[in-house]
This record gives sequence, structure tokens and C-alpha cells, in this order.
Amino acid sequence: MKHFLDIHKTDAGELRAMIDLARTMKTARAGLPKGAPDATQPLAGRMVALIFEKPSTRTRVSFDVGVRQMGGQTMVLSGKEMQLGHGETIADTARVLSRYVDLIMIRTFEEQTLLEMAEYATVPVINGLTNRTHPCQIMADVMTYEEHRGPISGKKAVWCGDGNNVCASWIQAAGQFGFDMTFSGPSTLDPEDDFVRFAREKGVNIAIERDPARAVQGADVVIADTWVSMHDSQSSRERRHNQLRPYQVNDALMAQAKDDALFMHCLPAHRDDEVTSAVMDGPHSVVFDEAENRLHAQKAVMRWCLGV
Ligand code: CP
Ligand code: NVA
Repeated sequence: MKHFLDIHKTDAGELRAMIDLARTMKTARAGLPKGAPDATQPLAGRMVALIFEKPSTRTRVSFDVGVRQMGGQTMVLSGKEMQLGHGETIADTARVLSRYVDLIMIRTFEEQTLLEMAEYATVPVINGLTNRTHPCQIMADVMTYEEHRGPISGKKAVWCGDGNNVCASWIQAAGQFGFDMTFSGPSTLDPEDDFVRFAREKGVNIAIERDPARAVQGADVVIADTWVSMHDSQSSRERRHNQLRPYQVNDALMAQAKDDALFMHCLPAHRDDEVTSAVMDGPHSVVFDEAENRLHAQKAVMRWCLGV
């Protein structure tokens, strides 16, 4: 079963092949209306369940459009309206859904829910974000970097802010795609050791630098994300803002990076918190290309899962 659960759980060569396929598929439909079918219809006759236990704009729409472009059908399900984990075990839900659909994408809170779904489903399962990781985002991000600047291997990525789920997948990607990464944030919000260890064992340099101005020196890409993720308690909001304010990505900080450095953010962004509008809308920013590339990258991920 080819589940797409995490960047570090998928073979590096297969990740590379997915990014290359995504680029080919994107090029092939350049200029077509968004609703036009792809020339080949690899998902014809396939039904895909998209389950959301948390809000989503990009993941929801990009998966739905991607399946339709490839000739398949979708069913968007809200976790709250299902029996998922309260009326019924995750394992039983996985067994039941596998009788109806060919592929399951789930966005959830605890990683354990995703893992149980994958263990008991008899169809592939895709991680559409958990509290710990967000692998589909990073596939789109690597694709976006390379579209603008060529191969990401050997480059330097700098994460500014909370060592959260998106940061974790970036660190795993550093190991798999062979680039260096510097984390810059307060020690209380460091990324988990496991992620850092994985990347270091792959031979890349993962550095921690508390001073953001020093961290971004020589950066090829500077990345930010929200200071309060969907799984973080609202009561931690003020503390997080106070701790993270020094890590805001603004023009002064970007000026310390390489002249041609890119700025990335998975969105949704909180303008003038983690990133200023000047940077979001400025010449370094590729945030809307990242959002578009969710569509293309995930189409390649789905084809890989289904072997079509
Ligand atoms: N970046 C991302 O996953 O966005 P959504 O939460 O809107 O899906
Ligand atoms: N870190 C954010 C990413 C949203 C796409 C969150 O988990 O809320």
C-alpha cells in the first residue's frame, strides 16, 4: 500500500519523481481553464474521500480540483459530521471507507488518527496535515523553489518562527532533497529532536540560530508560518506573539538574506504578524505560486499512491 504519510517515510527518489511529474503535468495544462480535464484521465472511475477535522481553503480546493482534472470524483467530509473517533473507532471507519472509495486524504489533529487510518485502510491514505507534519505543503514548496531557482539541493533554507508542523516537514525535506536548513525561533518552540536527527543523519546541516538576522545570512529561501497553529490553544496566543515578534520577516530581515532569496509561506498568513505585507507582496515572495503548486504536486502524489 503506497500511503503518503510523511516526507521522511517516502523514498527520496520517489519524492523526486513526484516533483518532476507535477512539473510535467503543470506544463501540459498551461493555458487551459481550471475546470478543463487533463489530456490523460488517470483517475477515471476513482472516488476520493477528503476528510477535514480542521478548517482548510487550499488543501480542500486543490485536492478537489486536482481529482476532477484527472477524471476522478470526490467526496468532501467534515470530521465533525462523521462518527470518526467518537461514534466509531478510527480503525472501523478506515475499513468502512475502504469499501466505498479508492483513496483517502485526511486532515486531522493527532498523528495517531492518521496512522490508525493508514494501518486499517485497504486503500492509500494521504496526510493533509496533522499537528506534527504537513508533507503535501512541502512537496509544493520544493516544486516552487525549483521552478524559480533550479535544484534545491545544496541550498540554504531558513525557518523563522515556531518550530511547528510545516517546519517539521521542511526539515525532513532537507534530509530527503539534500539542502541545509537553519531554524531561528525561541528555544521553547524548537522543532522536535526526531526531525532534526533524521535530517542530520542524511548528511545535511541543520542549524539552530536564535538571532534571526544572523540566521538569514546567505539564505536562498526564508520561510515563515503562523505563530498560532490550528491545534494551539487560544490561551497561548499572547505568549506566543510576545515570544515570536522578534522573528517577524520584514524588509530589514530579508535584506540580510541573499539578493535573490525567495520568501515562502504556506498560507493562510497573518499579515504584519509573522510577515509584513511589504514582504508578502514584494519581489522575493512566491507565496501564491506555492498555493497554486499544491494542486500540481498533490496530483502527482495521488497518481503515485494509486500507481496510475
Ligand atoms: N497551506 C494550507 O494547507 O492551507 P489550508 O489550511 O487553507 O488548507
Ligand atoms: N501551522 C499551520 C499550518 C496551516 C496550513 C497550522 O497547523 O495551523
